[in-house]
Amino acid sequence: MRIGILTGGGDCPGLNAVIRGVVRKGEGYYGHNIVGYRGGWRGAMEGDSFDLTIGNVRGLLPRGGTILGTSRTNPYNSEGGAERVKQTLARDNVGALIAIGGEDTLGVAQRLSQEGLNVVGVPKTIDNDLSGTDFTFGFHTAVQIATEAIDRLHTTAESHDRVMVVEVMGRHAGWIATYSGLAGGADVILVPERPFDIEEVCDRLTHRHNRGANFSIVVVAEGATPVEGSMALQTGELDEFGHVRLGGVGNRVAEEVEQRTGYEARVTVLGHVLRGGTPTAYDRVIATRFGIAAIDAVNEGDYGKMVALRGTDFVRVPIEEGVASLKTVDPDLYADASVFFG
Ligand code: F6P
Repeated sequence: MRIGILTGGGDCPGLNAVIRGVVRKGEGYYGHNIVGYRGGWRGAMEGDSFDLTIGNVRGLLPRGGTILGTSRTNPYNSEGGAERVKQTLARDNVGALIAIGGEDTLGVAQRLSQEGLNVVGVPKTIDNDLSGTDFTFGFHTAVQIATEAIDRLHTTAESHDRVMVVEVMGRHAGWIATYSGLAGGADVILVPERPFDIEEVCDRLTHRHNRGANFSIVVVAEGATPVEGSMALQTGELDEFGHVRLGGVGNRVAEEVEQRTGYEARVTVLGHVLRGGTPTAYDRVIATRFGIAAIDAVNEGDYGKMVALRGTDFVRVPIEEGVASLKTVDPDLYADASVFFG
């Protein structure tokens, strides 16, 4: 059978490892032909594809990004977009499609599946906020990069008696902030799940400095918001799925901390650095296994499913389970991290 594959949404370390896993098992074990669509749903709409073979996925395992390219194109936003995807697949003689993506890409996959396409989803986001799976690949790499940055910021913070504010990705959920903050010994962690009171943040920092500390580290998820809603944080620009482009909360927190406490503050926005470069060994392993799980599902004709990691096992769940609700930070995890605040 010919099987299509695409990567949609923000890129993520491990995407290439998933692709390699699909191709190695799909072609090598099952004898399928794999077709890669460029630029997410855009390539599927426009028929922009190339053949993926064992030969051309060689060397992909450690490579960051995605050789397929990605986009936030939503076929349901353009006139006849979904029909064009179906026509492309029919014309290419593609019998099933593996869609690797987050809530938006998988949301499209789910609709197409309901409309009769043979689709299997692979959950992808560095934010780790997709339900149905314990972890997504790329998250571990992002946490590792953020933790290394926090470690480095400690020494310069200490030398200059400063408060260092570190902004990390995390639009709807603060998994990266909480994990890297816990791993890096953050003194305050701000996440989208818990609107923060800037006065309380400053009180915690003052308390810490009054007890002899000469510096502090504050980790802020980009989607964190203040309780009073008084800080303007958004650019107002929307992408094709209607999401506001975020950025700026770290700067606002640093300004407020400096003004209210008198401590000198600096901000580091890690942003897309967290998504770039080679995946960690752990992410290489789970990404490879996500790819294998996806091609196994296709080979068995088990469509409309998303492959998911539960504990150490790979399972299949309905795609809607992955996109139905957001997986927010476990309150017990946040409680443990907050033991070290202030
Ligand atoms: O969805 C993953 C994510 O990394 C979010 O945390 C972030 O808001 C967004 O992607 C940024 O996307 P872009 O690459 O479009 O700036």
